[in-house]
Amino acid sequence: MNYDVQYIRKQFPALDLIVNGHNAAYFDGPGGTQVPQRVIDAMVDYLVRCNANAGGSFLTSRNSDAVLSKARLALADFLGCDADEVAFGQNMTTLNYQLAFALGREAGSRNEILITEIDHEANRGPWLALAERGFIIKEAKFDPEKCQLDLDDFRSKLSEKTLVAAFSYASNGIGTVSDVHQMVRMAHQVGALTVVDAVHFALHGPVDVRDLDTDFLICSAYKFFGPHIGVFYGRRDRFENLPTYRLRVQSEQIPYRIETGTLNHEGIAGAGEAVEFIADLGEKFGNSDDLLKTGGNGIYC
Ligand SMILES: Cc1ncc(COP(=O)(O)O)c(C=O)c1O
Repeated sequence: MNYDVQYIRKQFPALDLIVNGHNAAYFDGPGGTQVPQRVIDAMVDYLVRCNANAGGSFLTSRNSDAVLSKARLALADFLGCDADEVAFGQNMTTLNYQLAFALGREAGSRNEILITEIDHEANRGPWLALAERGFIIKEAKFDPEKCQLDLDDFRSKLSEKTLVAAFSYASNGIGTVSDVHQMVRMAHQVGALTVVDAVHFALHGPVDVRDLDTDFLICSAYKFFGPHIGVFYGRRDRFENLPTYRLRVQSEQIPYRIETGTLNHEGIAGAGEAVEFIADLGEKFGNSDDLLKTGGNGIYC
């Protein structure tokens, strides 16, 4: 089936907004996507039918748990992992701070962190904050000629002292898709952990955390037709041992060990529905030649 733009436009009520007599056009890419009606419906349905805290024996709590489990499964499909490797949080930035502060607790002889010049501040600031705890933060250079990260420089800054290499899948500023598979391999060769920021990439291409072999990956549902909510992946063995800051009463099981306080349940419901929406588009138009493809130069066109 051809890529039916009119059908897709109809799914987004925000496109009906009239500004100065014209239909609104949304150019704020970094501001995220608009949401389809079915995501709005899922969030409203959560608030009407399920609004409760988790783990209760009464109807709304059971409904709530069912919605949260379904959404977690959908996000696990989206990322290519098991449901208990997926956690939710306020946004990518906050989840990344939680991750950085947890990993920073047990440095041992590894006291270096590698970040990159091409990354969004959300994947720099949380690691730069570890300088206060004595970590040395190194930065892989951006090559403006090629509009790409300098992978030789990235490799040269990795060592047996590197605890974490944190880098983005795709740049929100210039669209460059980095060779994250190779970067993960390079970091693992020196025994470093990898943290991939997939916030910008997640809407533009399939994420497969198993194939990528990253230890951690974080993205944000508002970039892929969902509400404002962060989504965290932790590889089972790493996640189970992640020394997160958590309340004494909080479960230490994954994925709950990083989920502090009461979560944004309606947001989680919406994030799950956003994945269903994408799956539905894939079923309808997945073979269409019109879909976005990377031009082989790592830049989306
Ligand atoms: C590449 C990239 N990383 C991280 C972020 C931060 O995400 P969040 O707003 O969920 O903290 C953004 C937001 O624009 C982004 O584009």
